Amino acid sequence: MTESISSLTRFLDELSAIESQAVPEIGAARTADDLEALRVRYVGRKSGRLSALSGMVAGMSAADRPAAGQAFNGTHKRLQEQLAAAAARVLSTGAAATPAIDLTMPGRAVWRGARHPVTIVIDEIADIFREIGFTIALGPEAESEWYNFTALNFPPEHPALDMHDTLYLEGGGLLRTHTSPVQIRTLQRYTPPIRVLVPGNVYRRDVFDASHAPMFAQIEGLAVDEGVSFVDLKATLSHFARRFFGAATTRFRPSFFPFTEPSAEMDVECQICHGTGCATCKMLGWVEILGCGMVHPSVLESAGLDAERYTGWAFGMGPGRIAQQRYDIPLLRELYDGDVRVLGALGQ
Ligand code: PHE
Repeated sequence: MTESISSLTRFLDELSAIESQAVPEIGAARTADDLEALRVRYVGRKSGRLSALSGMVAGMSAADRPAAGQAFNGTHKRLQEQLAAAAARVLSTGAAATPAIDLTMPGRAVWRGARHPVTIVIDEIADIFREIGFTIALGPEAESEWYNFTALNFPPEHPALDMHDTLYLEGGGLLRTHTSPVQIRTLQRYTPPIRVLVPGNVYRRDVFDASHAPMFAQIEGLAVDEGVSFVDLKATLSHFARRFFGAATTRFRPSFFPFTEPSAEMDVECQICHGTGCATCKMLGWVEILGCGMVHPSVLESAGLDAERYTGWAFGMGPGRIAQQRYDIPLLRELYDGDVRVLGALGQ
């Protein structure tokens, strides 16, 4: 009896010694390989420490065996559970595959976005015109020849229709060379009084120099009503120039466009050389920022309006050129190259 009690007691002591050694080791396991080694060491069928202990049960009295067996099964079950829980933990943290995180590494710098200078200028111009009753209108960049040229009174032999200036699309149509086709679209859609401002991109097969790019932004303006005259044009554009350029001098020059009569251009004193002459203003001391004029009666008629009753004026300006002047950018290209060092420094 003494013999059998002591062998059961030894067995139970041994079991709890194994368990109290195994549990913290399983808890500390970091990888699936660690866990597999622990499984083999403790509960492996052939040489695991529990299997080795199970041999002792055979030498016990029949009375002791049930208690020994129960204790053995309990320990075996708990260790299996510990191993399963540890396996789930190791997998879910990915600790098996990922090396430890280096908390001393410097963080990644956060890039601050900035609005494009041309966008800033367009928004500012739109605000000035919104204050005096203009609304924003948009039109398609892929246009028909009729909207881009014919309805705007371009004669069929006009040089702008030439392949060298216009980008024609395969299967017909073209990329609009100016925002003026939106004049026609607006006149077809609304009845006067009309006052719209149309920002958008336009395309030309231009020489790429200090002030020309193959794609650039334009802003069209159009005002049509009964009794509108050149006085309204000049007063409105002068108001705009004072609001936008402040002290900088502007001037009107007579010009020509097929869709306006009479026509003019507005220049601003070159802000890069302050009128002394530089590459950007081609030594003129002035930079042309918009073309304008009284809407040609045949344009109103193309859009189905009564040219006896209505008159109007229009302008098309280059916000890229204006941004160049505002932000002192000698080459227009810099605005469209997308170099974040340039754009980030200029934008807000
Ligand atoms: N569409 C002309 C251009 O691109 C500008 C313009 C618009 C001139 C409206 C007069 C009236 O050069």
